Amino acid sequence: MDRLETLADYERRAEAGGGEARQRRQHDAGKLTARERIDLFFDPGTFREIDKLVTHRCRDFGMETQLVPGDGVVAGHGEVDGRLVYAFAQDFTVFGGSLSETNAAKIVKLMDLAMNNGAPIVGLNDSGGARIQEGVASLAGYADIFLRNTLASGVIPQLSAIMGPCAGGAVYSPAITDFTVMVERTSYMFVTGPDVIRTVTHEEVTKDELGGAMTHNAKSGAAHFAVPTDKDCLALLRLLLGYLPGNNLDDPPRVETTDPADREDAALDTLVPESPNQPYDMLDLIRAVADDGEFLEVHRHFATNIVVGFARFGGQPVGVVANQPAHLAGALDIDASIKGARFVRFCDAFNLPLVTFEDVPGFLPGTVQEYGGIIKHGAKLLYAFAEATVPKVTVVARKAYGGAYCVMASKHIRTDVNLAWPTAEIAVMGPEGAVNILYKRELDQAADADALRASRVQEFRDKLANPFVAAGRGFIDEVIPPRTTRPRIIAALRSLDGKRDRNPPKKHGNIPL
Ligand code: HXC
Repeated sequence: MDRLETLADYERRAEAGGGEARQRRQHDAGKLTARERIDLFFDPGTFREIDKLVTHRCRDFGMETQLVPGDGVVAGHGEVDGRLVYAFAQDFTVFGGSLSETNAAKIVKLMDLAMNNGAPIVGLNDSGGARIQEGVASLAGYADIFLRNTLASGVIPQLSAIMGPCAGGAVYSPAITDFTVMVERTSYMFVTGPDVIRTVTHEEVTKDELGGAMTHNAKSGAAHFAVPTDKDCLALLRLLLGYLPGNNLDDPPRVETTDPADREDAALDTLVPESPNQPYDMLDLIRAVADDGEFLEVHRHFATNIVVGFARFGGQPVGVVANQPAHLAGALDIDASIKGARFVRFCDAFNLPLVTFEDVPGFLPGTVQEYGGIIKHGAKLLYAFAEATVPKVTVVARKAYGGAYCVMASKHIRTDVNLAWPTAEIAVMGPEGAVNILYKRELDQAADADALRASRVQEFRDKLANPFVAAGRGFIDEVIPPRTTRPRIIAALRSLDGKRDRNPPKKHGNIPL
């Protein structure tokens, strides 16, 4: 009986965390506590906590009298929509959620369990970083976690939520994981904070400008989602997990859908404007063809000239990659290439078929791009699509020019089904550019250069900038009426259900980083 009372006392202290006053401060800052987050994240009643009684081993700086069972991190497993998921939540009310030797060991244990059982791991980060009192033991704890993040990469999905501070080397754990969600106003990530920056570079910058949710969503691309509140963050993590398999040997979870597989959409026949230079919103196309118009866009604020995200076709989860003519005319630049490449590799690692919608005038020209390394960054996207062995389906809606034609999941880099709309323009370059090069001398000497140019452009368009030449060579399998796009994609995916393809044996490739 005594032991039961002792246990109850331990549990009460673990659940109290850093105490009422600190929990109040957490709430006043607009944040939930670690346990509230865990409760909201998992299906009700399914969470099983591990290492709730673990305490730190630091005996310096008066720490021996400050022992909180659990030591500042709540860890365990539970269910998300009935599927096994592991998660830990740093408790900012206990030493600022800082990472101690023992608290790191809890996270490491959880990561090993997730790996061994083939289930995703989710980290809810809210921490002042390495526990200062523990010195190198704490740094060692971080490194132990980074190693496991690396080994788990491509084996189990790893999701990070930034729900408070995440600074210094601590940022490298989320950076290795697959997706990072940041809560607006209450979260930030940076390698060195504003004070250090002021001393070293004399720059004045606020915490939010330096590492807030929108900075990392729109500027650095280090985060994939920005959400207004903790609650939204946890709901988004659950939604995201719904598209993902537990591990790289499983298939993503299929769902029943009432959206008919043979649903056509007449509006698509007129989606592409008459004028080749007029933009349209690629999201209209994606939503028109996906199950129930649902699309979970990833990296929505970053490199908006390319769109990536998750959708379902006939109940089957897929990764969607699409050029966005509404931004930069859909041209590929450095950021778009990096964004697309990382997403493609995630999908390939986790058995998500890739559906690509193409309308790309080429790579973005200019010194900024060339000096910034568009050659090596653009090559990332090419490499990622070429390396991917999951089912691949491409639909060319309009432009597919130059190197970008090859890169965007063309037939030549092992895409299984390549479809094109009659509006497709597939050529080495756009008609205007081509005519200016091919007929330069003629145009210089012509009495009416504009009229000559117009007729040559039309000739080029008729002869080369269309889908029929590529279809005549089998590089495009079918030219389809736009309204039939959804049924054709679903039929293609069904035909690829048993796809088996592999890359040559190697330790790993050498993607141009
Ligand atoms: C131990 C810490 C701590 C830490 C905060 N606390 N950070 N305890 N180690 N790293 C404690 C505080 O003493 C305080 O305890 C409580 O947590 C809340 O902290 P406050 O400062 O009161 O909160 P707030 O004003 O919200 O500021 C939060 C903060 C600040 C911005 C995170 O605490 C801070 O700057 N902490 C230090 C951050 C840091 O430099 N960490 C090391 C980074 S280097 P009481 O008892 O008062 O509640 C790093 C390397 C990782 O992490 C290396 C990986 C390779």
